[in-house]
Amino acid sequence: MHFPRINFLEWVRENVETVEYNLTDSCVHPVSINELGVTYDDIGLSGNNYCGYGELVDLLATTYGVPARNVVITHGASMAIFLVCAALIEAEDEVILEAPNYEPLYRIPYFLGARVRMLDRPFENGFQIALEDLERLVSRNTKAIILTNLHNPSGVATNAEKLQTIGQIAKGCGASLVVSEVFLDSVISQPIPPVATFGRHMVSIGSLSKIYGLEGLRIGWVVCDETLIPHLRRIENYFSPRNAFPSEKIAVVAMRNRQALLARTRAITQVNLNYVRQALRGRSDVAWVEPDGGTVCFPRLLGGIESMSLCKHLQDTYDTLVVPGDFFWAKGHVRISFGGKPEIVRAGMDNFCKALDDMKRRRSMFG
Ligand SMILES: Cc1ncc(COP(=O)(O)O)c(C=O)c1O
Repeated sequence: MHFPRINFLEWVRENVETVEYNLTDSCVHPVSINELGVTYDDIGLSGNNYCGYGELVDLLATTYGVPARNVVITHGASMAIFLVCAALIEAEDEVILEAPNYEPLYRIPYFLGARVRMLDRPFENGFQIALEDLERLVSRNTKAIILTNLHNPSGVATNAEKLQTIGQIAKGCGASLVVSEVFLDSVISQPIPPVATFGRHMVSIGSLSKIYGLEGLRIGWVVCDETLIPHLRRIENYFSPRNAFPSEKIAVVAMRNRQALLARTRAITQVNLNYVRQALRGRSDVAWVEPDGGTVCFPRLLGGIESMSLCKHLQDTYDTLVVPGDFFWAKGHVRISFGGKPEIVRAGMDNFCKALDDMKRRRSMFG
């Protein structure tokens, strides 16, 4: 079977571990064992978790206000995305995806044989979804509308009211609404409810990787109505019938300390977002939409600067990495992550500005 490349993840694998100033990682700076307050009693090497470790499933169910039977724990949100897509999509089904997009959310439906239709989230519209565009794209063949909230790569939020409407549009054509909500709990303004709380055929995907700073645990989840659960379990058996027990045990501690972890993330990202603001303020070669939370933003490069060339120069000259927008179907943008250690983000942003200045100088010298 031919698996088409997921270019972004291949690029990440080849590049990020050797760079000094890494502004590509959408996870907040990792939480240490001491910060989390894990004790020996919290750790277990094996136990009952064929349907997820009971205490973790219960904590997630309580958080979402759904019965425990509506929760499936997965190996990160990455596995959740695959399971949900494989459970919902048959070859030739129409699936609506957003652009710019997190690449696996495009590749997986495409790999499963879906007919992909792209819903543009233009920079000029603040990366917001235009409902009239969505209404134009849906048909009775639409099987799923798959989104991110907060939006990856821009960090922009879709508010509760609009989400409700999108849910209604999905329902109206018999489709599921699937939302990867891995950044949702970090929204700065009014809290936004997960779509799984809206009713049947609404699927929420979550994770401890991003805004909880616990990527190493590889704990994600799906919350959905019970009709989808047996399909998810059946597909899961092809990969692994259970997750790593120690991770699920430690995830219990994380879920109990959820609010403290979110406060930590807010403290880190507030400081870092200010560095990004200061760096971009007054520049005539960059425009951006401020994110509504999360750890990423997606500035646009002006004056004809190419994102691939800028990123290469930034890496070669300043040992600093941001993600070229090309990996999100948005040439001329870069994704900057501001979840890292403040000193790394500040120095990385200084380097970003130096690289932009270099590019401008080059253009004025060589035309
Ligand atoms: C929107 C979105 N969904 C899912 C994932 C995967 O998360 P995880 O690390 O939990 O597998 C990512 C990772 O960047 C993401 O941005």
